[in-house]
Amino acid sequence: MAESEDIQFSEDYLQISPNILETFPRDRAPVDLYILDEGIDNVRPLYRKNEPISAQRYARILDYCRLERLFLFRNDYKEYAGHLSKRLGLVLVESELSDREVAEIFFLALHYRLVDFFDQPVQGRLDDLRRDLSILSEFVWVDPGRTGFLCRNLDKHGDLATHSVNSTFIGLGLYAMHYKKKVGRMNLTHMALGLLLHDLGMVMVPESVKGKKGLLLHRDKEALQKHPDLAMGMLKRLKVDDQIVEKCVMEHHERLDGSGYPARLRGEKVSVPGRICALADSFCAGVEERHFRSGQDALEVAASLMKLDSKYDVVLARKLYELVRCGFEGCSGERSA
Ligand SMILES: [Fe+2]
Ligand SMILES: [Fe+2]
Repeated sequence: MAESEDIQFSEDYLQISPNILETFPRDRAPVDLYILDEGIDNVRPLYRKNEPISAQRYARILDYCRLERLFLFRNDYKEYAGHLSKRLGLVLVESELSDREVAEIFFLALHYRLVDFFDQPVQGRLDDLRRDLSILSEFVWVDPGRTGFLCRNLDKHGDLATHSVNSTFIGLGLYAMHYKKKVGRMNLTHMALGLLLHDLGMVMVPESVKGKKGLLLHRDKEALQKHPDLAMGMLKRLKVDDQIVEKCVMEHHERLDGSGYPARLRGEKVSVPGRICALADSFCAGVEERHFRSGQDALEVAASLMKLDSKYDVVLARKLYELVRCGFEGCSGERSA
């Protein structure tokens, strides 16, 4: 821990509210704690993470917290966000967190839950995912403009779970933009689940095909293209009977000119959730790194999707471009990060 005289009290410190402190175990905290020392108008170390805390010391820490004098250092932010991501409901009531921090916590929470679910796709883990998604939907429903912050928080170096969370942020932003104030909270939750699970079937595709570095043979492509049907089978076993989820899973590789799969649907036959999921999926695949190429510039990917108007819904593609432009570069009217 740094010595107090070396510490410059600045944006490097985040204030901890009593709501959040109460979620830490009483006998040890997961982060270093600092207090604002009004005598020197600076912060100084109070506690080193994972040290045992006596009842007396906890009471003193809680007092500092209630007096708005308790802080953590930004270096511990990952641990702090990880801690909050398992208590996601807090982000809806916690005023000390900026939208950017909330977006990062949502990312960690959903990624953590999804890795668990992909590992063992069972009912209990699906229920956990749904609970977190209903909190995400509430966050977006209250102010759809917040999706810009979610979109800014994409992780480009990822696995299947990362791609799925990225697609959820982008697709949910697009869905909220498309339906504006008419969007229902429940529909947002269904859409979020569809986006998050659009590639669920990939967990059943053999690693030798998914991770193949050379040219994909016809039989490899066939194996890959089974993932929508494989996902539907898994969802049926989990008794997920939801039109929006089904559209996302079955239609995210359909293209308006009939060149997609698995059903080669054309034009109006591709639903709005399917069109949105297709754009979110293709956009995220373009900006993410793959083992055979690096990630592309977000605005360029969005612009190229707009030009593919025979394959993607051009009205939605324009909205995606706007969302990405605002999300990545910032538009007026947003809260500060
Ligand atoms: Fe897919
Ligand atoms: Fe995908």
